Amino acid sequence: MKFFIDTANLDQITEAQNLGILDGVTTNPSLMAKEGITGDSNIINHYKKICEIVDGDVSAEVISTEFDGMVEEGNHLSKISNQIVVKIPMTKNGVKALKYFSNNNIKTNCTLIFSPGQALLAAKAGANYVSPFIGRLDDISSDGLSLISEIRQIFDNYNFKTEILSASIRHNMHIIDCAKIGSDVVTAPLSSIVGLLNHPLTDSGLKKFLDDHKKAN
Ligand code: E4P
Repeated sequence: MKFFIDTANLDQITEAQNLGILDGVTTNPSLMAKEGITGDSNIINHYKKICEIVDGDVSAEVISTEFDGMVEEGNHLSKISNQIVVKIPMTKNGVKALKYFSNNNIKTNCTLIFSPGQALLAAKAGANYVSPFIGRLDDISSDGLSLISEIRQIFDNYNFKTEILSASIRHNMHIIDCAKIGSDVVTAPLSSIVGLLNHPLTDSGLKKFLDDHKKAN
């Protein structure tokens, strides 16, 4: 399973990259705004910096909701680096844009996926990734992980090459459950990724090893 980090924060991206487990980055307009990145040229420069830090795919989301606007923005974003994956919202215009980019060999990530039907349409239109939002479904008492299972089954039935990029991760167990289901990618905040490191028995076990070594030496 690939690990993407879900942030536009350069320090956190660098920390995850230095850990040696990072396969890519996802951003969205809210995450860019959170880092205070505004204005076209600043946004482009920020994506350039992210691409310099990581080796893998970097999702950059379009703002336009019109087909022509999505195509113009996506073409512009894709010229930043061949690492850029154009992130397109799941709308009727979005599906048309996914098909356009697929025909033009530009990688896409279809975002705001909340149902198996949406994922199926995105895959049919040639999306490289679909991003089902687990946490936001859980937030409204719906089962986010069931959605991942349903999409997995559909994609496997028809050998779709589209990768399931589980998003809106809220905690460590979301990552473990996604891995058990067979999600291709998980994009998570740094805290959830490094949270996987922790176990109290590891801490107490290491302390005992070091104490015993000290006593013996
Ligand atoms: C990633 O692609 C999504 O935009 C992100 O995971 C959404 O997460 P949130 O529901 O925590 O905002």
